[in-house]
Amino acid sequence: MKGIRERDKEVIWHPYTPMKIWPEAIGIIKGEGVYLADEEGNRYMDAISSWWVNLHGHSHPYIAQKVSDQLQTLEHCIFAGFTHEPAVRLAERLLDILPGEMSKIFYSDNGSTAVEVALKMALQYWSNKGANRKRIIAIEGAYHGDTFGAMSVSGRSLFTEPFNKLLFDVDFIPFPDEANAENSILLLKQLLLKDDVAALIVEPLVQGTAGMRMYDEDVLAEYFMLCKKHHAIIIADEVMTGFGRTGTLFACDTISVSPDITCLSKGLTGGTMPMGITACAQHIFDAFYDDDVLKTLYHGHSYTANPLACAAALASLDLLLSDSCSADRERIHLSHAAFLESIQNNEKISNIRLRGTILAIELNTGSYTSYHNDQRDFIYRFFIGRNILIRPLGNIVYLMPPYCITNDELNNIYDCIKDLLEII
Ligand SMILES: Cc1ncc(COP(=O)(O)O)c(C=O)c1O
Repeated sequence: MKGIRERDKEVIWHPYTPMKIWPEAIGIIKGEGVYLADEEGNRYMDAISSWWVNLHGHSHPYIAQKVSDQLQTLEHCIFAGFTHEPAVRLAERLLDILPGEMSKIFYSDNGSTAVEVALKMALQYWSNKGANRKRIIAIEGAYHGDTFGAMSVSGRSLFTEPFNKLLFDVDFIPFPDEANAENSILLLKQLLLKDDVAALIVEPLVQGTAGMRMYDEDVLAEYFMLCKKHHAIIIADEVMTGFGRTGTLFACDTISVSPDITCLSKGLTGGTMPMGITACAQHIFDAFYDDDVLKTLYHGHSYTANPLACAAALASLDLLLSDSCSADRERIHLSHAAFLESIQNNEKISNIRLRGTILAIELNTGSYTSYHNDQRDFIYRFFIGRNILIRPLGNIVYLMPPYCITNDELNNIYDCIKDLLEII
């Protein structure tokens, strides 16, 4: 009898995988807490929350029970002309905790579609108002997803290379690290003067895929204030930063100026089911609320507001908003901070940064190495060999663990990082 790994090779095409170079996938048969168990009896500590989705550990019994209960009642139904309790309840609860004055929740399937919907909302908002505002501004190096709109507002990279000529034009402002913050703000100011800007889209405080690049909340506040002044729509892509990753519940909670549109996914369901959400303020919704059917947002997916995903999200919120979960996030942050302190002078490290439960260590390999290179692949294999799942972003090793990870488990990962620093 062939194992999953072998059968997979015959029938599966994996995401973000050069299939000739990486033909083998590890066959996972069970998830429990911070661990993934494979068919050969190995257990891997999931230090990156399985692409940043998992909040409370794998196969969490509370979420499993709630999804199972929902499955007995209503598995799915069309969401145009029909609605259901889990979708309404989830919208009510999210609107209570989202930064700013959000009024409406639009459901979709994943982070890319949440962004796609946000862009359509922003562009059609101006079109519905009869204004000629089509320009979108984004930050260099951004990653907002893999659909065409989301790719267009993402930095041009090896991910977008084959499609670059087909993507719509976007103005990119420099990433606001210490050296470029002033320049970035200045450029945004100049672009906004033209009064043709539809929207600014940002990953607030942390650019994930670009290498967990972090920037100051003052810069974020300045961006937002400028947009408010010039009436440009602010889209906060909190797909990665949402649900406690950066310390506060949402990254935009750190500033007093609020976005007009917020995108959510990943941690939304605790990592259990795929779901995307685009939340918007009342004035955005109002521009679509009209007798003229041409002003409708004609967008939707078959599985919109899937009740099982809503049930998972509601259960995940119960856990997330508990005192013990916020204590866990604080504990992880303090543990990362102590580790950072202990290794920050290591000559093999060119930069080390921390925000909330995200720790990123930039290894001194000269320049940013690409997504798939020898060094990156070596580091990935090094950790897998130690039963830890870490997928470095080029030369950047980062940790974004589920909040249930224990101090001993964190120490085990830190020890492996120290071992890596010895040998590279
Ligand atoms: C900030 C951000 N936006 C959007 C996305 C796209 O999400 P998805 O992979 O669910 O389409 C990602 C994925 O990593 C992300 O980090």
